Amino acid sequence: MLIIGHRGSAGTSPENTLKSFEEAVLSGADAFELDVQVCKTGELVVIHDRWVDRTTNGHGLVLNLSFSELRSLDAGDGEKIPTLEEVFELTANRVEIHVELKSAGTSQKAAELINRFVADGKYTFDRFLVSSFNQNELLNFRKYNKKCRIAALMAHTPVNYADCLDRSTLDLWSLNLDIDNTNPEFVMSAHKKGYRFLVYTVNDLEDRELLREMGVDGVFTNFPNNFVAL
Ligand code: G3P
Ligand code: CA
Repeated sequence: MLIIGHRGSAGTSPENTLKSFEEAVLSGADAFELDVQVCKTGELVVIHDRWVDRTTNGHGLVLNLSFSELRSLDAGDGEKIPTLEEVFELTANRVEIHVELKSAGTSQKAAELINRFVADGKYTFDRFLVSSFNQNELLNFRKYNKKCRIAALMAHTPVNYADCLDRSTLDLWSLNLDIDNTNPEFVMSAHKKGYRFLVYTVNDLEDRELLREMGVDGVFTNFPNNFVAL
């Protein structure tokens, strides 16, 4: 079962910071996950919420703040909000990255950045998994990048599993579902269709064992260190 550091190593470092990503890499996790948004001046920045208030000492919407305004904020322990490019530079070829396209307008820029890193020999396509709750962002990502694996994020188990699983136009590698809505039937039907099944956010070791018994292929955790240690 894949161990994926959630927002880096969010349980031990400020989430979505270079410190958190470095910790996730050093933990020996298979991958780490991050959240991408676009700011007022167009840069791709790594932050989960639409508002900066919860994770920094600032106030306002990411979309209404310039990159230099975002950069002046403290994201915890003196860390700054990183750009997606800075994260790629830090972790180049050391680990898999799961890039979640959080806000609309991120897909083309993220695809072009990944393409550039691969062209420069700093990463390979198979070390990226690009995911989103937003199907349009995934479809648009595919226009600019045909090689990365992509994943559909879902917050709830769809009432009709077949509807969800037949979205073959998206060429999905995995379905990524929240733990509260994961069940053995859904895992099995996803596998029958050829999709992996990843679950977020799993911080309890007993939950991990239950998910392993269900045949889940990977878990996102805030504590990759603890999970890898086992
Ligand atoms: O990618 C899995 C998970 O991170 C999705 O939920 O809210 O933590 O971004 P959230
Ligand atoms: Ca996320």
